[in-house]
Amino acid sequence: MAFSFQTVLRFLLTTLLLGSSNAASFSSPLKDPNGSDPYMVYDDGYYYLTTTTWTDVQITRATTLEGLKTGEIQTVWSDSDPIRCCSVWAPEFHQIDGVWYLYYTAGSSDTLDNQRVHVLQGGASPWDTYSYLGQVTPDWGIDGTVLVVNSQNYLIWSCMANDIQCNCIATLDTPSTIGETHILSEPVEDWETVGAPVNEGAAPLYHDGNIWVAYSASYCWTANYSLALLAYDGSGDPLEAASWTKSDGPVFVSADGNYGTGHNGFFTSPDGTETWNIYHATRIAEGACDGNRYAAALRVDWNEDGTPDLGVAPALGTVLDGPSGEVA
Ligand SMILES: *[C@@H]1O[C@H](CO)[C@@H](O)[C@H](O)[C@H]1NC(C)=O
Ligand SMILES: *[C@@H]1O[C@H](CO)[C@@H](O)[C@H](O)[C@H]1NC(C)=O
Repeated sequence: MAFSFQTVLRFLLTTLLLGSSNAASFSSPLKDPNGSDPYMVYDDGYYYLTTTTWTDVQITRATTLEGLKTGEIQTVWSDSDPIRCCSVWAPEFHQIDGVWYLYYTAGSSDTLDNQRVHVLQGGASPWDTYSYLGQVTPDWGIDGTVLVVNSQNYLIWSCMANDIQCNCIATLDTPSTIGETHILSEPVEDWETVGAPVNEGAAPLYHDGNIWVAYSASYCWTANYSLALLAYDGSGDPLEAASWTKSDGPVFVSADGNYGTGHNGFFTSPDGTETWNIYHATRIAEGACDGNRYAAALRVDWNEDGTPDLGVAPALGTVLDGPSGEVA
């Protein structure tokens, strides 16, 4: 196998200019603009990134984080059914029994009151063709994600309970049907109620047999939109809020010119040894809920007691080592 002149030159430039022996360095943002509500998986040689576009579901793929900036883009879904055509938000890939499913939020053109979680069925690769499978939440719901505890699948989503935007949980009985709805967490602390009381954007996190759910707290049009954690007690019924302990405050907040750091996903490095946080933020100091948000990535570190350390969002353009096992 021969390396092209361009490949060698790119390697040398990357190595010399980035001052690192790791050719797989990267800097954020990875998608800018239109990086809202990012979710990413690594599967069989590629990162697959999807974000909110409002009109359809798009996937960007590349073999490195840096490569996502100029990655291949495929639109895998758009829908003319008036009840789910519009306000397409927060797509996420989840693999169930070897098949990739895309959970997303959508509603009608006239109001946000019809937002529901829906699911598409794909194939053996996240890059395969998707077809519509069904509506998952019976009533208002956004930001669906899949949690797995002891081989049981659960859907967590942001629901309306007592007129407040909470996180809800139910068993995911099939990829498109759920059991009884339970409230998982409610926005009650001062740091969860800036602008409006909001809990949304849940993202399961697994490490050494322990389970957390990260979620976004406060209103996205404020700089206090941030990530907090629910820690699972390891033995209780995941459907009961009492089995989860909320962090004392937010664990990932506005920093270094990144405002409203939130609505994240977690992905695993190519060699499976590291967990990474992919999140969105905005340059606008008052926060933003629109397409001006960019997607950025940062490795999750672990404290001595085994709890996650999400760190501090670095300034845009900061050069970081890419995920472990990445081949440039
Ligand atoms: C909102 O964010 C500001 C600055 O980031 C912080 O000083 C303030 O304490 C936060 N407000 C709440 C209620 O947490
Ligand atoms: C986001 O993408 C849409 C098309 O999907 C485009 O019209 C828009 O200008 C983009 N940028 C922002 C900031 O929303």
